[in-house]
Amino acid sequence: MCGIFGFKGKGNIREIIKNGLKALEYRGYDSCGFFLNNDKFSFYDKKVGKGKIDELVLSIPLKIDEEVIVISHTRWATHGRISEENAHPHFDCKKEIAIVHNGTIENYQFLKKGLEKIGHKFISQTDTEVIPHLIEENFKKDKNIFFAVISALKKIEGSFAFLITKRGEDILIGAKKNLPLVIGFDGHNYYFSSDPIPITKYTNKVIFLQDDEIFYLGSKIKFYNFKKNIQIIKKFDELDMKEYEITKGSFDSYMIKEIYEQPEAIKRTLKYFLDETFERLLKQSIPERIVITGCGTSWHSGLIGEYMIEKLIVIPVEVEYASELRYKSPVVDRNTILIAISQSGETADTIGAMKKLKGKCRIFSICNVEKSSVVRESDFILLTKAGPEIGVASTKSFTSQILILYLFSLTYLFKKGRISKEKFNSKCNEILKLVEKMDFLLKNNNVEKIAEKLIYKTNALYLGRGINFPIALEGALKLKEISYIHAEGYPAAEMKHGPIALIDENMPVIFICVKDKLLKKIIINMEEVKTRKGFIISICDFISEEIKKLSDEIILIPHIENEYLKPFLTVIPLQLLAYYVANKKGIDVDKPRNLAKSVTVE
Ligand code: F6R
Repeated sequence: MCGIFGFKGKGNIREIIKNGLKALEYRGYDSCGFFLNNDKFSFYDKKVGKGKIDELVLSIPLKIDEEVIVISHTRWATHGRISEENAHPHFDCKKEIAIVHNGTIENYQFLKKGLEKIGHKFISQTDTEVIPHLIEENFKKDKNIFFAVISALKKIEGSFAFLITKRGEDILIGAKKNLPLVIGFDGHNYYFSSDPIPITKYTNKVIFLQDDEIFYLGSKIKFYNFKKNIQIIKKFDELDMKEYEITKGSFDSYMIKEIYEQPEAIKRTLKYFLDETFERLLKQSIPERIVITGCGTSWHSGLIGEYMIEKLIVIPVEVEYASELRYKSPVVDRNTILIAISQSGETADTIGAMKKLKGKCRIFSICNVEKSSVVRESDFILLTKAGPEIGVASTKSFTSQILILYLFSLTYLFKKGRISKEKFNSKCNEILKLVEKMDFLLKNNNVEKIAEKLIYKTNALYLGRGINFPIALEGALKLKEISYIHAEGYPAAEMKHGPIALIDENMPVIFICVKDKLLKKIIINMEEVKTRKGFIISICDFISEEIKKLSDEIILIPHIENEYLKPFLTVIPLQLLAYYVANKKGIDVDKPRNLAKSVTVE
């Protein structure tokens, strides 16, 4: 939530800031702003609303010959409405100290009251604004901006990654706690960003700042641990640039491109697991119990993991929302594994839950971002290789996560001696067959036509059973988040305990109805909906007379025998359905209202 981007050096400043902010827009797009500083001139600008970066950077002159410092921001509003005064950068009373901040300052009200009492005037409703005022106050005593920032850090509670500069001075300071801050250096210019993506355009040399670290960039860059009050030495790492290549290609949105990338993402994730993870995982002892945690889509993949792990390796599994787990008193020990699932690796609640259980049980993570906070908090890492996911709605990372959960189950099944290595290999070959079927489905489906039927609806119900119940949840989440149609996912049989009251001819009901042992049961649930005149869309891997009779629309998907692989196919039409409905309603699927890709606040 919120992206920060900074630059120190010479170049086409307008382009650098525009590219930097655009690459971080997935973290928030309520407003944007920058502060440009050097010893001759300093100015700032802010714009409110989505898609304003092009307009914002017009105030940066096309040609600047001098070296400049720029700090910039793209906002996802937490404290204070979406408005110009709440857009970043924020300043002290004299408008000398400028800050861009990602995170939340939990004790800001207390600090603000104290500062107001001694005469500080606040312009915004944000938590961020206390930081420059605190620094201003400390500066009166410390007479040194760096010490003033350190003193401020000792007073603030919460999570932050920020960049600060002082009007007319060659100073750039940044610090982080719980939220990411990456520094790039191309030999001449420095780049600062919430993630490495915008930096990789210029250099592959980066430093990931760690928690409680601060840097000071004057004529040279220096690093300190502000908690321990010590200077530290940090070296630039070389990033694998291929991991960060981001374009929409021939697609008109990241979301649709990412949906179509799923077969490749599955192949990459499988290969990486077999090459890099399998042997290491075999060395990990089999736990007595597993707790899976995550948020949103990642929580849904946890539910599928529960189904796979309990049935295949017969270990009890609980799946907890990370936001709940972090404030519970979970009973765990060294025979428990916590599996934290996160695409971004920066979700505040997931990190909070991991921290809560740290030291009490083994912590595994399934994550798509190698250098993320979730990865750093883990004892064992299971990487997904979905590639950067930019569209707000999670798609290819979901199928990559459930692949890892399946491979995790197969590996422990092999370790337990319940399947041979040949059987393990043949199961992996089945995944390659699955990939072909996913590819076929993406190229041959009638989802776009069926989406027409949903655009004027206000509600939808998604029903599935067994391993396809979490797919129903996921389908409903996709529809609501990008098309703004209220949708709920339910276990199909649970419908008659309440939601059935909602069913009439205006209620679309999407059934996941595949050839498995619950087929007969789901057909009964379809009858119950049809009797009440519900409009049935069936996602089926075969068609029978009965299904034809009950369904108003059918989306046929390829059949796969292995029940654990069916969700990879049933989820695709639901992702596409949400995409086409939103697209036909004219919604920007990559940046739907109120959302941000990386939820770094509680
Ligand atoms: C839904 C979606 C969110 C995320 C959730 C967790 O499409 O993208 O529900 O799944 O915010 O994010 P990660 O997986 O990055 O921890």
